[in-house]
Amino acid sequence: MGKAEQILPAAVDHHGFQIPRHLAWRTGRLDRFREVSDEHITHLQTYAGLADARHVVEIGCGVGRDAIPLMHILPRDGSYLGIDIIPGSIEWARANVSAHSPHFRFVHFDVADQQHNPGGANAMECYKIPCRDGSQDLIFLYSVFTHMFPDDVARYLSEFARVLRPGGRVLASMFTMERGLISYLKAIGGGGLRSLTFSHEVEDGFFHNDPEVVPGATAYSLDRLGAMAVKAGLVPERFVRGSWRKDGEFDVNGQDLVVLRKPAF
Ligand SMILES: C[S@@+](CC[C@H](N)C(=O)[O-])C[C@H]1O[C@@H](n2cnc3c(N)ncnc32)[C@H](O)[C@@H]1O
Repeated sequence: MGKAEQILPAAVDHHGFQIPRHLAWRTGRLDRFREVSDEHITHLQTYAGLADARHVVEIGCGVGRDAIPLMHILPRDGSYLGIDIIPGSIEWARANVSAHSPHFRFVHFDVADQQHNPGGANAMECYKIPCRDGSQDLIFLYSVFTHMFPDDVARYLSEFARVLRPGGRVLASMFTMERGLISYLKAIGGGGLRSLTFSHEVEDGFFHNDPEVVPGATAYSLDRLGAMAVKAGLVPERFVRGSWRKDGEFDVNGQDLVVLRKPAF
């Protein structure tokens, strides 16, 4: 093997796309990269009406791990918009996914975030989802509300209510918590892969795993999230229990899923 070949970045093969490893791992675990994406698509089909969706937005799309299989699922006259705060992920997705399917667009939000975009110039409130009011059928976010604070979640929820058509849906994977769960999570050494206990209830119904680590992992009670959704103009439709609590009762692997809907009238 020549010198030039040795320094080429290794790539992850995802449905035939070669995603540079240094970007792929920022989107998801490499050992389950394809498997998790397959689960994401199944959840959208099972819980959020993907089969009837033409216009779709994904928040926190990373390199487009879920956009890539959606290229073969969404109708040709449909559209997909992916938004992320990591510039390299968006650049790669544009150069590869949009180049193949121009109705798939990717937009960078230069939001300051110590973990994902430390050099970010702006706050979340500076951004609007670049879609017309009432134009979208489905919005989804996997592992994004898992580290967001209430003001930023509220900002996204109000944007979702603006761009969704009546009857349109949001599917978000996240951690949902109750005060009574803290002692159980501590006793078992924490839930999820990162031993999460969410033992700091920073505000009523808003939990932080470790306030020393910012953004770190965050969780919401269903009551708090439901109130935020209603305030934004959405209604909670469905809760799907994830396995992260390790108590043996779950419908899906990993995080919980929450489905919200924009009322039809
Ligand atoms: C754990 S990764 C998940 C990526 C993707 N959802 C998936 O599962 O394939 C979380 C992603 O959310 C992005 N992100 C974090 N905060 C965000 C924000 N405020 N708006 C949009 N994306 C954000 C990160 O840059 C990162 O790509």
